[in-house]
Amino acid sequence: MGTELSLGWVLLDLLRTIVILLPAMTANTFAPFAGGGLPVDMGRTRPDGRRYLGDGKTWRGLIGGSLGSAALGMTILLVMHFAGIGSVHDSFWGSFPHNIVLITVMAFGSLVGDMIGSFVKRALDRPRGMRTPFLDQWDYLLGAALFILPFYPWWYRTLIADHHWISLLIFPVVAYLAHVIANRIGYWIGVKKEPW
Ligand code: CTP
Ligand code: MG
Repeated sequence: MGTELSLGWVLLDLLRTIVILLPAMTANTFAPFAGGGLPVDMGRTRPDGRRYLGDGKTWRGLIGGSLGSAALGMTILLVMHFAGIGSVHDSFWGSFPHNIVLITVMAFGSLVGDMIGSFVKRALDRPRGMRTPFLDQWDYLLGAALFILPFYPWWYRTLIADHHWISLLIFPVVAYLAHVIANRIGYWIGVKKEPW
């Protein structure tokens, strides 16, 4: 379609992509507030003695993080509705109830990706909390991406067609920086044990 490509357009479109994918980015931020208690792997160990996921992945973090992030996404949906930018019936995330389901699935999927990341880290014999560049910053995006796949053609129309793919390509860099900054803040305010 006739999108006029310019730096201004790309920056605005990048902002749009960030808002759309925010439920996938913030579940990780909510998890440390909710986390604690029973680990998802129930403390079980692999045959080689290593944990499956470790004590950093708990049921409370998984459920609380998903709900917190989904609630944030729905709040954005409502704010946009009442500000007249789209509506809950026809939003970035599709129509109702597609948008509500999608936002929730995105938040949950990102924490599943975070657990897949921990599974890989434990398999590589890296103890809980040990810094693992790229995996720490991108595992949750991969999880969210996997969980979004069934929502075709929504993601094609919204994130790829009409030059939106440009923003989608830049997005992982933004997400990386956001993750680094958010975790540093989490460390300073005492909800995270490590600054990564
Ligand atoms: N958290 C949780 N449950 C989850 C994800 C996160 O309880 N499903 C909480 C834990 O308190 C965790 C904190 O959020 O310590 C930060 O998450 P993260 O950095 O991903 O966990 P780590 O403790 O670093 O563990 P890992 O090495 O497996 O990433
Ligand atoms: Mg970690």
